[in-house]
Amino acid sequence: MISQDSIQQILSRIDIVEIVGSFIKLKKRGANYLGLCPFHNEKTPSFTVSPAKEIYKCFGCGRSGNSISFLMEAEKYSYVESLRWLAAKYNVEIEESETSPEYKQQQQVSDSLYIINSFAQKFFSNELFNSEEGQDIALSYLKERGFREDIIKKFELGYNAETKDGFTKLALAEQYNLDYLQKTGLVNLRDGNAFDNYRGRIIFPIHNQSGKVLGFGARIIKKNDKAPKYINSPENEIYVKSKILYGSYFARQAIDKADECLLVEGYTDVVSLHQAGIENVVASGGTSLTPDQLRLIKKYTNNLTIIYDGDGAGIKAALRGLDLALEESLNVKLVLIPDNEDPDSYVNNLGTAAFIEFVNNNKKDFILFQLGIALKDVGNDNTKKAIVVNQIAETISKINKTEDFTKQQDYIKQCSEILKIEEIGLHALVNKFIREKIGKEEIRGSRDQRFTDVFSLDNKGLVDNEVTALFNKDEIHEQAMIRSLLEFGLKNWDESQKVADYIFKEIEENQLEELIDNKELIKILHTYKIWYNAGIEPTSKNFLYHEDLSMSTLVLSIMDFDYEISVNWKTRFEGHIPTREELFSEEVFSTLNYLKLRKIKRLMNENQGDLEKSTTTEDQMILVQTHQHLKEIEIELTKQLGTVIFR
Ligand code: GTP
Ligand code: MN
Repeated sequence: MISQDSIQQILSRIDIVEIVGSFIKLKKRGANYLGLCPFHNEKTPSFTVSPAKEIYKCFGCGRSGNSISFLMEAEKYSYVESLRWLAAKYNVEIEESETSPEYKQQQQVSDSLYIINSFAQKFFSNELFNSEEGQDIALSYLKERGFREDIIKKFELGYNAETKDGFTKLALAEQYNLDYLQKTGLVNLRDGNAFDNYRGRIIFPIHNQSGKVLGFGARIIKKNDKAPKYINSPENEIYVKSKILYGSYFARQAIDKADECLLVEGYTDVVSLHQAGIENVVASGGTSLTPDQLRLIKKYTNNLTIIYDGDGAGIKAALRGLDLALEESLNVKLVLIPDNEDPDSYVNNLGTAAFIEFVNNNKKDFILFQLGIALKDVGNDNTKKAIVVNQIAETISKINKTEDFTKQQDYIKQCSEILKIEEIGLHALVNKFIREKIGKEEIRGSRDQRFTDVFSLDNKGLVDNEVTALFNKDEIHEQAMIRSLLEFGLKNWDESQKVADYIFKEIEENQLEELIDNKELIKILHTYKIWYNAGIEPTSKNFLYHEDLSMSTLVLSIMDFDYEISVNWKTRFEGHIPTREELFSEEVFSTLNYLKLRKIKRLMNENQGDLEKSTTTEDQMILVQTHQHLKEIEIELTKQLGTVIFR
């Protein structure tokens, strides 16, 4: 771990213009710098770098970030790798923070496992190419299947002979530690005897992002009903199945270039497609995709195309967990390979060009495909149909990023047609899921409750576009308040307190959860408060470089980007245009007040509802009094604000 001190040192030297400038040509334009965006094709520059705010933003494709996210995006570095790159550039000596003995121990184990794997990989390759058994049995098998020697070498395939302990003996003779040999899964111990685990198998080394061998997949050659077809490395310090995509080391550049990642099931599918010149391909090993794997893909592209054999169990597994891909804004397409084929056999049959054409002509939309599968066993059963409607609404609701809004609308339209239900009904249901997600309770609630809601759509008028729009509007106001805290929090509010003190006091008096709905924004507030109380400057810069990327992205998206006021504007308004900076106290006051007003408005609505439901005069009296009290607060707040916001 890099020490906090070193990180601060690195951050203090960062010059975003210099960093971005070492990748693209920048020209000074007013306070900012302008260049051609490295993330999309453009002829006129719209990529803007603000040295003052230490951020960049492309007004063409919308990408934005700071120096570190630039390196992460342009070079596909991790956060820590970016820091190391910067440290090297600015000659900051990295000081590793006090690492715990456990961490050191784990590092040491990892290093040892890598060393053993590398040794084993070379041993197995040597067996394949240079031993008699390897050549006669394994190499000939691979060649029969059509694998070329150059591709076998590129993927560092190997062979482990049938002899009981050829590898084990050599490894022990070379002083490799028996415990670690077992940890890698290369060696087994039975009755005190150590022997090879992958006997008589083709070896597929699995590489990490920098090409080091994490583990192996070992495929049996001779048919044997008792032994599994594949044996994979056991989970250990470096082989963590949920984080591995086979082939990603060889595919990353091609994925980046094609802006698409193909996902197949098996090792041989990856190798065959590579051989056919289709290199943007990785394999999941036939299980459902994990969040870590999706994140790995998302580093390179937003377009995921799953190529599976259609009737296998694999496709069902692959579909599971894909809702997550939607939340990540990945575009997921499915291509089903005809019966009894897999991508490996199919590309060998068709040849590269025809295979690519097949893929391009048979891309199915993931959501519509899922709906198709689900509808297959619905028939005339309305209860089953209700379940499907709910599932699809929930899936669609996961597409909940502003940029995907139209996409969501399209799905609602298409799915309601396929389902033969009213579009507005599906719409309402989707919105309900969205609200549940944004709002109070977790979705886990009772499913039955939701069923009755779909089919008694009497609350139709309530939940439609307008409500969604309202939600978005509300969120903007929440963001505005947080922004004023981030930007002006350390300014003096009055003689006795800072803006931050004032805001936190107000929030406390008004109940945080009742003022702000968005949980992510609440997280920012909490972090701010912790830093503030600990004497760390909670500047927006510190948030921008926060390791929690979802938080730094959110902060970035709510921050104001000071672009140049155009010349037109300057000449039209000759006088002085007050900046937000100068009006900060008004901004703090009004953004807070808006949220307070909203809260009162909500309380009044609630009260109104209770009033309509109430039966006794006594209850009604109390409720009317409450109403009057709330009304007074509302008038007061509105007066303070100086503007009438609510009708
Ligand atoms: P070939 O049959 O040689 O073409 O291999 P394949 O990769 O096409 O195998 P298959 O389609 O049967 O399986 C797809 C993937 O599922 C494999 O690449 C493995 O990752 C995984 N798999 C298959 N069989 C087993 C098994 O017995 N054990 C384990 N752990 N994984 C398996
Ligand atoms: Mn196969």
